Amino acid sequence: MKKIIIGIVGFAVIAAAGYVFMRAESLGIKDDGKVYPKATKPNKTLIVYYSYSGNTKTVANYIHNAIGGDIVEIQTKNPYPKGYRDCVKQVKEEMDANFFPELTTKVDDLAEYDTILIGSPIWWYHIALPVSSFLKDNNLEGKQVALFTTHGGGGKANADLDMEAALPKSTILKSFTKLDKMIKVSLSDVDEWLVDTGIKQ
Ligand SMILES: Cc1cc2nc3c(=O)[nH]c(=O)nc-3n(C[C@H](O)[C@H](O)[C@H](O)COP(=O)(O)O)c2cc1C
Repeated sequence: MKKIIIGIVGFAVIAAAGYVFMRAESLGIKDDGKVYPKATKPNKTLIVYYSYSGNTKTVANYIHNAIGGDIVEIQTKNPYPKGYRDCVKQVKEEMDANFFPELTTKVDDLAEYDTILIGSPIWWYHIALPVSSFLKDNNLEGKQVALFTTHGGGGKANADLDMEAALPKSTILKSFTKLDKMIKVSLSDVDEWLVDTGIKQ
């Protein structure tokens, strides 16, 4: 009798665990312990990105080739210094001062898009300041938004938290990040991410 009860309880526990797992799978995609929603079928997609030295631009163009839609490069009124060290120093000072650089990029018909892919290099463990400016200047409420970043070895760091803080009323999909040195090697993981999130059907 005891064995039968243990058997029934064991079966119930396994069945419940299976149900919870399947439910999580159907609800969305797990990443860093969080479950992200799956994209609903995109009707009109905008890829908007900032790139200081070209890496994020390469990924943005790759995504554009893969899914189509429109693509816009974010540009600042005052370009960042050409010298890497000067740029790193200036960015640190600007971040410490909570500064948002002025942009010359305007997307007039933002209301037309339901899906926005945002590309950014990682700067001092965060999304780049011009991308922060873009998020501050534009209303992405109600849109599904996916971030892709490139980094120099520190991974996406605080980028997901930056997005959550800047876009409390958007549906944030699972983000993607790529080590700068690997961009020239292969970008097939970009395709996997696009399919995984549901952006590419
Ligand atoms: C101002 C600045 C800050 C950076 N901070 C980081 C960082 O915190 N972590 C990291 O992994 N890489 C950092 N990097 C490296 C870039 O994220 C990386 O090279 C990226 O691919 C550059 O993208 P881009 O060519 O599109 O500008 C930094 C680069 C710059 C210019």
